[in-house]
Amino acid sequence: MARIIAGVTSSHVPAIGAAIDNHKMEEPYWKRVFSGFDKSKEWMAKTKPDVCIAVYNDHASAFSVEIVPTFALGCAAEFPPADEGWGPRPVPVVKGHPTLAAHIAQSVILDEFDLTVVNKMEVDHGLTVPLNLMFGSPKEWPCPVIPLAVNVVLYPPPTGHRCFMLGRAIRKAVESYPEDLRVVIFGTGGMSHQISGPRAGLINSKFDKAFLDNLSKNPAKLVHMKHLEYMREAGAEGIEMVMWLVMRGALDERVKEVYRFYTVPASNTAVGHIILENAPRPAQRRAGSAKRRPTPKAKAKAKTPVRRAAARAKSETVRG
Ligand SMILES: [Fe+2]
Repeated sequence: MARIIAGVTSSHVPAIGAAIDNHKMEEPYWKRVFSGFDKSKEWMAKTKPDVCIAVYNDHASAFSVEIVPTFALGCAAEFPPADEGWGPRPVPVVKGHPTLAAHIAQSVILDEFDLTVVNKMEVDHGLTVPLNLMFGSPKEWPCPVIPLAVNVVLYPPPTGHRCFMLGRAIRKAVESYPEDLRVVIFGTGGMSHQISGPRAGLINSKFDKAFLDNLSKNPAKLVHMKHLEYMREAGAEGIEMVMWLVMRGALDERVKEVYRFYTVPASNTAVGHIILENAPRPAQRRAGSAKRRPTPKAKAKAKTPVRRAAARAKSETVRG
């Protein structure tokens, strides 16, 4: 079966993309930002996921204000870079995974999350900048990427709880996909920033660092945070962080934090980044162990078809 093995969060500041595209990565200002992702690229090169799911928001590139889907899943075979005003970024076309995407769409919609299925879509910096930060600037992205666009630009965005539960539904969907695929899920956007108005330039490092701590160790503390709290503490655009909760919901309750990076600022935004890995499942740790089989006592108890089914289910639960 397919499995989500890790989650990655990363800011998706457009100026980071411009720094890459205009070869400014070695300038001291930008080196401070990019050097924080050196270990991340190493981790990604070692992890080699088969597929990534990228939770991001569109910035009026694919969707205008005429249509603003709350959750839109990219089910196409490919997603070209969008023209964001200066022409499309010179990055590879993002190749999708239509069969896994269709499977996720079916599973989560039947789980009562009403996704919009998108069969044609361009992707902007919200998705391509985190890919650069994790994969560098290859000629082709090394694996298929399924985009999941979340509305955080027009009120009302989904709640953090809704995002977290969607993550759970995505995990269930992935785990019911028959092919053996190792999947990494991205949550992008944030951290604290406000682009316009009297509080333009707002950055709240204390809030950001506490958010990273809770994301890693205690996500229950974040899932019921109100939109107003995000906006008051992290600025109007800080609401993007609800998307990180989709990523977190798709992971196990306990995760291993393998890397974290935080720096201020990039353009007018706090940059936050974390890599969380799921622990190996019991089935993986004890692969081949006879303990996974029902004991003779359990077999003896399973006298009726219902009991046999229950015993089988219990044994499968142990296997994870
Ligand atoms: Fe954004």
